[in-house]
Amino acid sequence: MVCGTTLLVYQNIKVYLCTFCNLPQDPEYRRMLLRFLAVALFALVMSSHVAAAPDGAALYETHCAACHQVSGGGIGLPLAASKMATVPDDYIKLTIRHGRVGRIMPAFPELSDAQVNAITAYIRSWSGVAGPVYEDTPINGNPERGKSLYGIYCSSCHAEDGSGEGLGTGVTYSRGRNFAVMPPAITNPGFLASASDQMIRQVIMLGRPGTAMQSFLDVGLKQNDIDDLVSYIRSFESRQASVDRAGGDTEEPAALFFDSPYDFDSTIMSLKSALEGRNFRHLPDRHLEKGLTGDDRINRRQMTIRYCNFELLYRMMRVEPRLGVGLPCRITVVEQDDGSVRLIAMNMRLISHLFNNDQLRDLADEMHEIQLEIIDEALL
Ligand code: HEC
Ligand code: HEC
Repeated sequence: MVCGTTLLVYQNIKVYLCTFCNLPQDPEYRRMLLRFLAVALFALVMSSHVAAAPDGAALYETHCAACHQVSGGGIGLPLAASKMATVPDDYIKLTIRHGRVGRIMPAFPELSDAQVNAITAYIRSWSGVAGPVYEDTPINGNPERGKSLYGIYCSSCHAEDGSGEGLGTGVTYSRGRNFAVMPPAITNPGFLASASDQMIRQVIMLGRPGTAMQSFLDVGLKQNDIDDLVSYIRSFESRQASVDRAGGDTEEPAALFFDSPYDFDSTIMSLKSALEGRNFRHLPDRHLEKGLTGDDRINRRQMTIRYCNFELLYRMMRVEPRLGVGLPCRITVVEQDDGSVRLIAMNMRLISHLFNNDQLRDLADEMHEIQLEIIDEALL
């Protein structure tokens, strides 16, 4: 019997059709063999179905462990097993979906519901206890009273505006300046979209043992004080830009292309004078392939022009410190095989999406307009 012809490929498992030319003539034996093959095929298909269910541990490792580490420590808020045992499944799922806009926790809109559920179940398995289920009933405290309590008991750590930038810096990747665990942004739209009123009440009542967040029942606050605080924190929701907007814009192309009417060297000169005309400094030119291949093999007709404008740069960094990783801005000039020249620029409007930070939207739009004007002028 020769096995070789591929019958079908099912989820990377090749099922081979056996050529029966060498089979014995006995019809009983042939029937038995065919039955065996049918059962084997069925088993293969079924087993690949089971394997296709998302693996929470592997997904966690891929998407979360870089920050939260395998045991749930790491940067940001540690996902300690004991703490995760006190939050509802929905809180974990929604946190994965929304992230924390403007903080380091990304949003994961691309994961399927099954994948989010699998990651949540995996985190749940650390403590082995079912998560609490809170009622949806909103808490109707007095936000005005909550505001003054907040000023007394909370703002030193969570900051006046709830941004978490009180005693901690709030947005760094590192810890250990003033706290082992940085106070999070409790008015962050990602947090407010994920935590129910009842959960926020619970956190204030019980605190987060092992961190600077203590139980405010122990401090002497009464149940109605805590309800007032919850209503004050909730009132930030209506003042925030919507979280969903930050996740949009995925239809935008990542790069923009422009054809130059000039030759390679003239295009570069023209681009530089357009930059200077708009008060941008340009840094030393750099070949696109620099560092990617041996110096003698670099294509010298592909040049990256890096530029910046400190005023704009600082305004953007104030909103999004992580931008420092990607700046300065750059436009690449490429001579193509037929001698024509193209400019390639990053699409600035994608920045607020990349950084999951809605506040960057206006600045990124402004930067986008300026970039287009510079390119227009250079190619005039
Ligand atoms: C790039 C780093 C990074 C990655 C990747 C990341 N997180 Fe986070 N996560 C953070 C930070 C930082 C915070 C704290 C946010 C804040 O300070 O407001 C956080 C907060 C959380 C919280 C809230 C914890 C609490 O105490 O309320 C949960 C839950 C969470 N992350 C789950 C996940 C899961 C699940 C994944 C993977 C799907 C993930 N995170 C991926 C950095 C990250
Ligand atoms: C001494 C600093 C400090 C003070 C004061 C403080 N917190 Fe916290 N708070 C923290 C820290 C640190 C965390 C993160 C703990 C963790 O989850 O690991 C936290 C977490 C929280 C959380 C959960 C947020 C999340 O993303 O999971 C809420 C809600 C909260 N605090 C509300 C309050 C309120 C309301 C007050 C005032 C009554 C207050 N905190 C006072 C340090 C503080």
